[in-house]
Amino acid sequence: MSDATHTIVIFGASGDLTKRKLIPALYHLYAQERLPDNTIIVGYSRSALAHDEFRGRLREWVEPSSEFNVETWDRFAQTIFYSAGNLDNTDDLKRMDAFVADKEQGTANRLYYLAVAPEFYEGALNSLNALGLAQQDNGWRRVVVEKPFGTNLETARALNQVIHKGFSEDQVYRIDHYLGKETVQNLLFFRFANAIYEPIWNRSYIDHVQITVSESVDVEQRGDYYDKAGVLRDMFQNHLMQLLALVAMEPPISLQADALRNEKVKVLRAVRPIKVTDTVRAQYEGYLEARGVDPGSQTPTYAAIKLFIDNWRWQDVPFYLRSGKALAGKTSEIVVQFRRPPSLFFNLGRGKQLEPNVLSLCIQPDEGIHFRFLTKVPNEVSEVQAVDMDFHYRSSFKDTALPDAYERLLLDAINGDAALFTREDEIERSWELIDGVLSGWNKPQAQPMQSYPHGTWGPEEAEMLLADDGRVWRINCGDHR
Ligand code: BG6
Repeated sequence: MSDATHTIVIFGASGDLTKRKLIPALYHLYAQERLPDNTIIVGYSRSALAHDEFRGRLREWVEPSSEFNVETWDRFAQTIFYSAGNLDNTDDLKRMDAFVADKEQGTANRLYYLAVAPEFYEGALNSLNALGLAQQDNGWRRVVVEKPFGTNLETARALNQVIHKGFSEDQVYRIDHYLGKETVQNLLFFRFANAIYEPIWNRSYIDHVQITVSESVDVEQRGDYYDKAGVLRDMFQNHLMQLLALVAMEPPISLQADALRNEKVKVLRAVRPIKVTDTVRAQYEGYLEARGVDPGSQTPTYAAIKLFIDNWRWQDVPFYLRSGKALAGKTSEIVVQFRRPPSLFFNLGRGKQLEPNVLSLCIQPDEGIHFRFLTKVPNEVSEVQAVDMDFHYRSSFKDTALPDAYERLLLDAINGDAALFTREDEIERSWELIDGVLSGWNKPQAQPMQSYPHGTWGPEEAEMLLADDGRVWRINCGDHR
């Protein structure tokens, strides 16, 4: 290990993200001795707090973890410090900088983590830039930016410009926590570490692809944020577009950040502008009564979209994407449905077709992979039945708990590996696609807002989106199969 100090400065230290995700992740990494030796964590936010007070507040978020150990915590806590200040106040930031500089020895690498509400990004970045805190004279300087990254193409571009006043692109780590999920990374391994799938991963063999990211929770206490965002900005622009890119992209020449991101951006660029008639938007019943939600709100809590990718691999293969809150279950899954073989000699009955082979990539919560294929029914001459070949992480990797996405992402940012972070062109292209749908929805002739009862799989119109193409949505993971 190097002698350099690694400092993680968390802006928004008293916020939810810090308590729920960042500190527990850093604690686990520390306990597993995966953080560089001289790592210190400095929390920065407005309230005046003593170091010990701050440490005490964080402890209660780590204590419930099964990995909690008092001695390890006590040692870890000694690496945590606190500096109070406003984000756009350069004097406060100078004080933080002087405090940190005093703790740092030798080469000092710094990761600035913007765990604040997005309206504070610009002020914070401008102050960091103005104070020269992005300069890499004595060690590297990196900045982690949380989502939402902008609210449309224009604001995302503006934010990129603010960032680039001080930080070059290779110093920027834009988080999409889906990329930190073990099972999302496994999409790449599954596709490219196995010889048998890639040759059939194209329009000649694949009938269509479905991506479902459903949540059973509703907007809960987040009405204020959510009503301004809606499902397209909250889930599609980032998580669903990233899943789409990983499923559909060409093989990268390596897993190195730019090689991977070049391929993702290429496939996103090949997405045909989405037709508004290929979309469905809906609100769950009761959404308008949620706290923070405008009673006349037109914000969708559910959307389903059909899109096409205009390249050699995917021309004319529909990709159906859906996501929503207050649905019948929580599941993130990708279904790849293969074309049907000719039904020549099977005893199917009039007008019936053979069931297609279906590959289901279960991202969460029942992490695994299932492959549905047809088999002969014993003692019958020509009857077939669909059966599943199943892989579950929980049984194949019994002794290995799946790490939280933030552990992997924090470590990668410290190690300078940006492969699981989104590059500016990816973000901008995703916004371009989403903006197209949003502006379509604002036109008078747009599809009307639908509604759906809490605890269902969404509105009837979303079923029709597939039914019109002779297809059905599938849930093949977890208890909802
Ligand atoms: C976040 C969204 O990015 O992802 C939330 O802002 C959503 O609205 C969450 O609930 C879902 O993440 P996960 O990891 O629980 O699927």
